[in-house]
Amino acid sequence: MFDDLPAGLTARHPSDADHPRILAVLDAWWGGFKGEAGSVERALLLPRLYFQHFTTTSFLVERDSAEIAAFLVGFLSQTDPDAAYVHFVGVDPALHGHGVARTLYNAFFALARTHGRRYVHCITSPENTGSRAFHTRLGFRASGVRPDYDGPGLDRVAFTIDLSG
Ligand SMILES: CC(C)(COP(=O)(O)OP(=O)(O)OC[C@H]1O[C@@H](n2cnc3c(N)ncnc32)[C@H](O)[C@@H]1OP(=O)(O)O)[C@@H](O)C(=O)NCCC(=O)NCCS
Repeated sequence: MFDDLPAGLTARHPSDADHPRILAVLDAWWGGFKGEAGSVERALLLPRLYFQHFTTTSFLVERDSAEIAAFLVGFLSQTDPDAAYVHFVGVDPALHGHGVARTLYNAFFALARTHGRRYVHCITSPENTGSRAFHTRLGFRASGVRPDYDGPGLDRVAFTIDLSG
């Protein structure tokens, strides 16, 4: 699907059967970020519906067509015809720094453009400094910390990139 992934990695759209496989790697890939509360939060952020109804705008990367190496869950906004949204992204820590997430985002940007979308939005936790650095490096504009953005105690930083820029 993409020709700029490191050797041995292949990409495809995810399916229903990938849901438990992805849930199984979240805690390890996030390094136990925010402890038990973080673990519950992450799992609840990825209900099965994303692997049923958002598959054509999401990507899964596998190593030797077996082990999960990375994923991006995204969608086209139903409300804003100019916007697309990256909901969740993760890369196996063993592959960090090899451009895998950049490849996934570039593929999502291309898909968004194909559908006439100009902006891509996403959010992250303020404490997730790696995610904040990554999105800034890709050219996203960051908001300040937005207290209680996703509910009481769930502060977020919001990111936007203008694909026409
Ligand atoms: C954030 C994450 C997706 C980045 O994946 P990755 O494949 O390592 O990123 P890439 O190799 O494509 O990096 C792209 C650019 O961002 C930079 N970057 C990536 N992670 C970074 C970090 N932690 N600190 C500083 N810069 C970083 C890279 O240096 C690279 O810049 P370059 O092109 O100038 O060399 C990955 O670290 C991850 O899965 N983290 C845990 C899950 C998470 O936090 N997800 C995001 C919130 S939902």
